[in-house]
Amino acid sequence: MKTIQDIDINGKKVLIRCDLNVPINNGIITDDNRIIQSLKTIKYVLKYASNVIIISHLGRIKTEDDLKNNSLKIVCDRLSTLLNENIKFCTYDEDIKSIIDNNKIVMLENTRYFDLDNKKESNNNEELSKYYSSFADVFINDAFGVLHRDCASNSVSKYLPSAIGFLVEEEINKLSELFNPDRPFTLILGGSKVSDKIGIISNMIEKVDNIVIVGAMAFTFLKAMNYNVGQSLIENDYINYAKDLISKYNDKIILPKDIYQSDDVNSSDKQLVDINNISKKGFDIGPNTIEYIKEKIKNSKTIFVNGPAGVFENPMFSYGTKELFNILSNMDSKVIIGGGDSASAAINFGYKDKFYHISTGGGASLEFLEGKVLPGLKYIGD
Ligand code: 3PG
Repeated sequence: MKTIQDIDINGKKVLIRCDLNVPINNGIITDDNRIIQSLKTIKYVLKYASNVIIISHLGRIKTEDDLKNNSLKIVCDRLSTLLNENIKFCTYDEDIKSIIDNNKIVMLENTRYFDLDNKKESNNNEELSKYYSSFADVFINDAFGVLHRDCASNSVSKYLPSAIGFLVEEEINKLSELFNPDRPFTLILGGSKVSDKIGIISNMIEKVDNIVIVGAMAFTFLKAMNYNVGQSLIENDYINYAKDLISKYNDKIILPKDIYQSDDVNSSDKQLVDINNISKKGFDIGPNTIEYIKEKIKNSKTIFVNGPAGVFENPMFSYGTKELFNILSNMDSKVIIGGGDSASAAINFGYKDKFYHISTGGGASLEFLEGKVLPGLKYIGD
């Protein structure tokens, strides 16, 4: 695949598609990792190109109100500070071409603003891809987190000489190592839904030595083994799938031994119970589970984590997620953290530099490991 170093950007106008979809709470960016990870490509392009144009989506746009809450201006300001460059922010009602001509670096407004018009961005509208391509000579796609979306801003690569940026290159290289891992290889899956993880389980089950199943998805598996899971979240439609998997791969599957339960996720009360005594809703794994997992995976040479072990956003139920990271950070193994919640948790709990790789894309890293062709890479040639 053509990378940023294989394409001539000297003196050219370069359009960079980044994934700057960062969490924002009350007007404050709560995690700027994706902005930081985009800097390498932007700095490189700034050095050689005549003009740099940055595009990205932010959030999901369904109503006029969403426009007010999802402007990229706040991200533009943070990027300007991190780059120490004045980035000209540009809305779609301005004369974009002349603004680009008169400014070294320009950021356009949220690409999903076009979703109010027949979902033009998210439905991969051809005219919109051509519109974006009309601003530049070269296209660099560095938006790893959104490569799994067939959207117009990714398809600019159909209309301009294109390459991937440093971030996408690194993500692909690191995640590809999981297709040929040093063994034993352990997959740790958490989060709430079995249905989200079926693709990766199917594609990886033969390649892994262990699958640790934690988070709410573990309750569907426990239910499949006839445990009473109280009012814990389960997916009835996937109980047979879980049964099947357990019967075929019993020796690989590692499930919780104890959990923290409560009446409500916001309650200030919780109980630690053995999996034989669950009576309420389970929100986290307990210390026996942590010890059990630690023992089972102690020799693993490669570990991939996707999904948290509990409701880590609530300090009442962050124990399992934190303890797992603690164990993994002290192991002499290649640990790769999938994006999304696992990445936020790892970064928020202080493990940013403790792992071999923390992906910037939750859905994208999953689909990559499911073996799918990511739409954002489809038109980038060799
Ligand atoms: C993400 O945050 O996973 C990516 O930016 C993609 O966003 P989306 O799920 O809204 O398409």
